[in-house]
Amino acid sequence: MAAMELTADAFRAVMSRFVTGVCVVTVCDEDGRPRGLTVNAFTSVSLQPPTVLVSLAHASETHPVVVRRGMFAVNILAADQHDHARKLATKDPDKFHHVGWSQGPHGVPLLHDALAHLVCRTQQRVTVADHDLLIATVVDASVNPGSPLIFYDRRFWALQDLSNIS
Ligand SMILES: Cc1cc2nc3c(=O)[nH]c(=O)nc-3n(C[C@H](O)[C@H](O)[C@H](O)COP(=O)(O)O)c2cc1C
Repeated sequence: MAAMELTADAFRAVMSRFVTGVCVVTVCDEDGRPRGLTVNAFTSVSLQPPTVLVSLAHASETHPVVVRRGMFAVNILAADQHDHARKLATKDPDKFHHVGWSQGPHGVPLLHDALAHLVCRTQQRVTVADHDLLIATVVDASVNPGSPLIFYDRRFWALQDLSNIS
């Protein structure tokens, strides 16, 4: 079978069928200011040692700070944090203005009321096309009660009910 010529729009349409949660990758810059961006290219890689992967675009202004600092946090957002997800997906220099956060272990910013926090130390950086995959060890983590923010069909969703089909 001939390889299909996949346009960017067609690829986006395919990926829009894949459900993900929504995270914010955060880091403090050298002046102690929080930096961060909304991310859904996040996955767990290994349990021992606990290892995760995030994919950051070269165009991200947070990306070089994450690379320089070597430590970052992944904040898994709760359903009622969709405004944070929208705001932190912009380039607004003041985007943390209405976002509550505190410094966590290793000085990384942890967003208040996130569903979970992972404090990560970068182990490997792999450049793929216009992104870097950061493979990182989880050195600290916490979970909070609540329900996740969902990204599907290019929109944010909340789970209304969970039907267990297993
Ligand atoms: C739901 C959603 C998921 C996103 N996932 C990613 C991602 O995985 N990696 C990435 O680099 N950008 C992702 N973005 C885009 C960034 O959040 C956006 O480009 C942001 O403005 C970058 O901010 P910065 O330049 O301040 O780092 C996503 C945006 C949204 C709304």
